[in-house]
Amino acid sequence: MSEDLISIKDASLWASEFLNKEVTPSNISYLVNYGKITKFGENGSTQVSRAELKEYYQKLSKKEELWKEKLGDDLNWKLSFESLKESETTKHVHRLHPYKGKFIPQLVEYFLDSHVDDFKKEVYFKKGDIVLDPFCGSGTFPIEAAMIAANVAPGMNRDFTAEEWTNLIDRKLWYECVKEAEDMIDTTVKVDIQGYDIDGDVIKAARENAKRAGVEHMIHFQQRAVADLSHPKKYGFIITNPPYGERLEDKADLPELYTQIGQVYQRLDSWSMFLITSYTDTEKYIGRKADKNRKIYNGMLKTYFYQFLGPKPPKKRN
Ligand SMILES: C[S@@+](CC[C@H](N)C(=O)[O-])C[C@H]1O[C@@H](n2cnc3c(N)ncnc32)[C@H](O)[C@@H]1O
Repeated sequence: MSEDLISIKDASLWASEFLNKEVTPSNISYLVNYGKITKFGENGSTQVSRAELKEYYQKLSKKEELWKEKLGDDLNWKLSFESLKESETTKHVHRLHPYKGKFIPQLVEYFLDSHVDDFKKEVYFKKGDIVLDPFCGSGTFPIEAAMIAANVAPGMNRDFTAEEWTNLIDRKLWYECVKEAEDMIDTTVKVDIQGYDIDGDVIKAARENAKRAGVEHMIHFQQRAVADLSHPKKYGFIITNPPYGERLEDKADLPELYTQIGQVYQRLDSWSMFLITSYTDTEKYIGRKADKNRKIYNGMLKTYFYQFLGPKPPKKRN
């Protein structure tokens, strides 16, 4: 058994070779921290079992294969955020919202932040852009948009295993880094972020969530049906996850609802609109073909990311 136990660093080297991709010590620590594999030894000299690690990775790859069989080979495993714990995918959001289609914040962060990768080839939003979600539900989109605008570092509100590595990272240095990240937060930045929903209770819950995240004052939440949507500004972005018939009885309402979205969008003629939905007749009822349409997975639900692009706003003169 003792030969089976290896340090976090050796586990990361072993796993990198086993998986043929880089696995960092913090990836291994994450597994220990979240109880996915057993922790042996004391903090600072933590060890893990190589056999258990191997079994964990084998199970995970089987899971990915099974899902691919079910959903198709184009499953973007990375965007399923399968390895995250529920407490992370529900950070600052709650279970108050009745809709199963609630978006996980990491996926929203992925779309709103300024990184690019093989799948996301361009940055969609710039700080200061108007962001409006007419079906905001528990507020995931507006809250993440506000946190990004306020420079809140991703993962700011969680604990990291590395905090325990006092022999490697001086605690003082760690706190200095956290303090530095905190100092960079500015919730006084000027933003125009709006969240609407037809359901007053849902709006109340969204406000609560925003308050918990410390960004309530940055978002204008209001109970409003999508049919009544308007905005005085010429350029802006709608990013939203409208109902897609999660409950069978809602399915019949979708043609009318998506027709309303199309009519409202016509009035906002220089805006861009990003719809993330599983409803396959979206373009038919919006009355316009999307400029781009990508397949993604919210949790394990096949979803489309429809992009309707408006003209770019003219460059501001100084
Ligand atoms: C799929 S959920 C959105 C979930 C949200 N993205 C989240 O993370 O919680 C759809 C939302 O649309 C709202 N809704 C349904 N019909 C509406 C309408 N006609 N106008 C505005 N909101 C509506 C529902 O109350 C629900 O909160």
